[in-house]
Amino acid sequence: MTVIAVMNQKGGAGKSTVCTGLAQALNLVGRDVVLIDSDPQGSMKDWTEANPDQPVTIYTIERNQLASQIPRLPNDIVIIDGTAKAADLAKKTIAVADIIIIPVQPAPFDVWSTGDMVAMIQDRMDELRGTGQSLRAYFLVNRAIGNSKLSKSISKTLAGYGFPVLKSRLVSRTAHPNAQMIGKTPLDTQPGGLAARELRALRDEVLTLLA
Ligand SMILES: Nc1ncnc2c1ncn2[C@@H]1O[C@H](COP(=O)(O)OP(=O)(O)OP(=O)(O)O)[C@@H](O)[C@H]1O
Ligand SMILES: [Mg+2]
Repeated sequence: MTVIAVMNQKGGAGKSTVCTGLAQALNLVGRDVVLIDSDPQGSMKDWTEANPDQPVTIYTIERNQLASQIPRLPNDIVIIDGTAKAADLAKKTIAVADIIIIPVQPAPFDVWSTGDMVAMIQDRMDELRGTGQSLRAYFLVNRAIGNSKLSKSISKTLAGYGFPVLKSRLVSRTAHPNAQMIGKTPLDTQPGGLAARELRALRDEVLTLLA
């Protein structure tokens, strides 16, 4: 089992968008994936309730239960929507993750605000050193605006934070909120569109990390 936590303490960074899109993209290629919402009032619940035919399995696990419940899941890939804003709760999510994806909007305040979380993740990596257990973390540029100069310089700045930046990125596209409104992803509503293409590219890159 691989546990992927999608985290950023900043609200609206795109955690739920990445979780739902990545989970459905994996589901579409037959991977045994489950989505975990650690917030009982979280977006996942609303998203899944908006679509009675939701193909992706979603469980709500209270944060204090993550460490005991996650290892019991029978699934191959577990994706956690790491909604936690408080540091102690974020740490609980980091503690169960094999891979952390940090979606970040390509704008200076968004990048700078990831500093505390980056430090928490680095502390955990230090803790794990020599234990045989590993934790990897990657930034994912989300809501990129075309191929602007800004996005490129932000990618450089992000790389300076010590974690690799995924090659795939999600451009700002209305296909995401439009699909989410009905409990779906752009993979379902506009499978031939650019948003779907970007989600498949993200999935393929993530699969190379699992290989
Ligand atoms: N690539 C994108 N293109 C267009 N809209 C996007 C994109 N990514 C996210 N959004 C929109 O931005 C809003 C915030 O995204 P999302 O809910 O995924 O963020 P979040 O990090 O889960 O937020 P929260 O911290 O509140 O849980 C949503 O309305 C979503 O549809
Ligand atoms: Mg969310």
